Amino acid sequence: MIDKSREALRAYAEEIRADFERDLQTLVEIPSISSDPSRQKDMFACADAAKAILEKAGAKAEILKTPGQPIVYGRLDHSPEAPTVTIYNHLDVQPANEPEWKTEPFKFINEKGVYRGRGTTDDKGPALSALYGALAAKKAGVPLNIAFLWELEEEIGSPNFKAGITTHQKKLKTDNIVVSDTIWLTRGKPSTPAGLRGLQGFTITVETAAHDLHSGLVGGAARNPLSELCTLVAEMGDGISGEIKIPGFYDDVEILSAEQERDFLNSGFSVETFMRDHEVKSLRTKDPLDLMKRIWAKPTLEVHGFVGGYTGPGIKSAVPGRAEIKLSCRLVPNMRAEKTLEQITAFVKKRIPDAVIQAEARLEAYKGHTSGPLADAIRDAYEFAFGSKPAFTREGGSIGAVPTMEQVLGVPVFFLGLSLPEHGYHAPNENYDWEQASGGIPMFTKYFDSLSKIKK
Ligand code: BES
Ligand code: MN
Ligand code: MN
Repeated sequence: MIDKSREALRAYAEEIRADFERDLQTLVEIPSISSDPSRQKDMFACADAAKAILEKAGAKAEILKTPGQPIVYGRLDHSPEAPTVTIYNHLDVQPANEPEWKTEPFKFINEKGVYRGRGTTDDKGPALSALYGALAAKKAGVPLNIAFLWELEEEIGSPNFKAGITTHQKKLKTDNIVVSDTIWLTRGKPSTPAGLRGLQGFTITVETAAHDLHSGLVGGAARNPLSELCTLVAEMGDGISGEIKIPGFYDDVEILSAEQERDFLNSGFSVETFMRDHEVKSLRTKDPLDLMKRIWAKPTLEVHGFVGGYTGPGIKSAVPGRAEIKLSCRLVPNMRAEKTLEQITAFVKKRIPDAVIQAEARLEAYKGHTSGPLADAIRDAYEFAFGSKPAFTREGGSIGAVPTMEQVLGVPVFFLGLSLPEHGYHAPNENYDWEQASGGIPMFTKYFDSLSKIKK
């Protein structure tokens, strides 16, 4: 038994530190890259390793099959009368082929409590912080059933998550959900999202010839698919200001309430810190409120890549026969991905009727909860563990599972994130650290203790 004081929980965290680090090493060293079909074996190996970690911790665990990657489900039960919380994390990771990696991305490096490797912060480290927080709650006798729902397809837009949890809906019954997959404003300034942006990815392909052509022979008469796509992109929006010109694009964007604007302004957000943490060299705006609105509360249309033409040394005077662009929109609450894609399709087809538009990942935007006993429990948990209350901001990123879980399981989702901007989500040299983990463990315990006291 341990008591629920901050000191006792901190001491518990120090006691299990070696276990935490060993588990994180186990998970990080399995390259669970969901977007890479050649890693399929690793996906199953990761699910097996995660199940073993849950079992070693004393949980009942199983692997739920879906038409895609498996879902790992574990339970630390107290009693049928006690309320149940489900903790969501994902164990799949982004690829790691950036040349800027200073260490092997799938070798776990522990530099005095700074943990390096792909997946350390997104989202294997937070998953284990929550697990050890749950174990501490058990040791402290908190009367709560704690379930773990670990997805392995988050980084590809959760294509099978809805089907997976719908099949097992009965088993997954819970009173509320907590997600640990979001970031703070900066170290020392916790924040929790009152909303997430959604995402609609798509590619546009134009093919005008069977192969690249000699520009001396056909140039002037032949259509140039790269040029057409450049014109299209330029018409879709102003690449310099970021304003999108697709008719109707902003129609459903909700205007921020004065209260939400105030929350943004009081969050402690700083433009300088933002630039430093993300290592960004210049921005479209330096006005803090404008910046916060742009990353949290406004939709975007982003060009990720142009494919086509000649990119070797010198020039090759060909007219490309085919070109493709990769794009996505971040969506904000109230927008619907389907409608946005229809608007874009109409816009493209009007200009280039034979362009082929292929829809990619679709994640709906999400509006969260900022009041009530659960929101208060979130505030208390951060304050208890880290000494400051979280700002209820929004998150510019997307987690497909969040709106899906609310919809299918019919219960509210809250967020207890632990990652920092400097940890480098999706970036080379991704890392996590013991400072966040060792504060995170008592934070989760405190949250679980509060949940156990809220009437079912
Ligand atoms: N943990 C992130 C979501 C996130 C991003 C939260 C930024 C807070 C700030 C998640 O793992 C993620 O990367 N989601 C992807 C989904 C996409 C690849 C389908 C995203 O937002 O791009
Ligand atoms: Mn994540
Ligand atoms: Mn991610």
